[in-house]
Amino acid sequence: MNKVESTQRAAPESMVPVGVVPTTIVQAAMSDFQACTTHAALENAKSRYLGKSGLITERLKGLSELTPEHKKVHGAEINRDKDSIEAAYKSRRGELETEALNAKLAAESIDVTLPGRGRGTGGIHPVIQTWQRCEEIFGSIGFDVADGPEIEADWYNFTALNNPPNHPARSMQDTFYVDMNGTDGLPLLLRTHTSPMQVRYAKMHADDLTNNGKPIKVIAPGRTYRVDSDATHSPMFHQIEGLWIDENISFADLKGVYTDFLRRFFETDALQVRFRPSYFPFTEPSAEIDMKFDSGPLKGRWLEISGSGQVHPSVVKNFGLDPERFIGFAFGSGLERLTMLKHGIGDLRLFFEGDLRFLKQFA
Ligand code: DAH
Repeated sequence: MNKVESTQRAAPESMVPVGVVPTTIVQAAMSDFQACTTHAALENAKSRYLGKSGLITERLKGLSELTPEHKKVHGAEINRDKDSIEAAYKSRRGELETEALNAKLAAESIDVTLPGRGRGTGGIHPVIQTWQRCEEIFGSIGFDVADGPEIEADWYNFTALNNPPNHPARSMQDTFYVDMNGTDGLPLLLRTHTSPMQVRYAKMHADDLTNNGKPIKVIAPGRTYRVDSDATHSPMFHQIEGLWIDENISFADLKGVYTDFLRRFFETDALQVRFRPSYFPFTEPSAEIDMKFDSGPLKGRWLEISGSGQVHPSVVKNFGLDPERFIGFAFGSGLERLTMLKHGIGDLRLFFEGDLRFLKQFA
């Protein structure tokens, strides 16, 4: 054996770290891998054997110094070890993945025996319940239901209702103007009442009444706006407008229809209602309808629930109808106020605070 040969033969042993015998490198890797409890630790361990300067890689590099026969034998051996280490690495990686998955599943596990949280049931707002009930009651006595714009033209909101520009009655209904030069230079505003719907609906059905004798009989519930805020007023509130026009509809019909409506709405005949003489530009004669609270913090107090009256001839004319031939009544009632009276609620602002403790009582 010459010098070169002996150096070459010694090479494989000299690359094995002290204390590690070649045959046990696989076992060493296996126990190393087994000791790893995280992915990162396992990757580090793997690179100690299979990385760029890992033990196996170093050994493979050392092969170049061996004779062809030794190369063959040792090469095969090293490759077998390499395959075994790779397999050990993969199996440990699989184990760690399974462990991680199991831990995740355990953490996220659902206890199907717990009672469900549920979503809670919604309820219809008390004011909207009143709105719906009004539609039912008036619908049952033949009133059509109409809906119209909340941003209204000055003409419909005021002028057509016999309330021309600069009329002092306008100041009773201070409101929010949206565009001072809206349509034809006339302002657009948030409607102050549902009364403009009288004009819109009657104009559309005027010919049917004139030519076919079909009465105009309509309610128009909706949102309205005024610069007002206290226990019985809010900047946004709901009204229901009523209009009945035909050849012989009188103030007596107003009293009859409205009282009948109240009896059904409050589900009692023992009502405390009064028709109090009043003024509106669009009715003559005019009346406010008041009702007395019979429960709640306002018990014994009167509350105005509606304006009403016989439609003014100038307004009938603006409907496109002949005021000598057609006559009728109108009313505009506050839906919050009807609701307050029905449930004995002392402050209308409760309707808009969204407090579930209050609202749940009506669900
Ligand atoms: N629009 C009036 C208001 O908001 C209420 C009203 C009064 C409506 C008399 C009417 C009516 O239809 O005839 O105060």
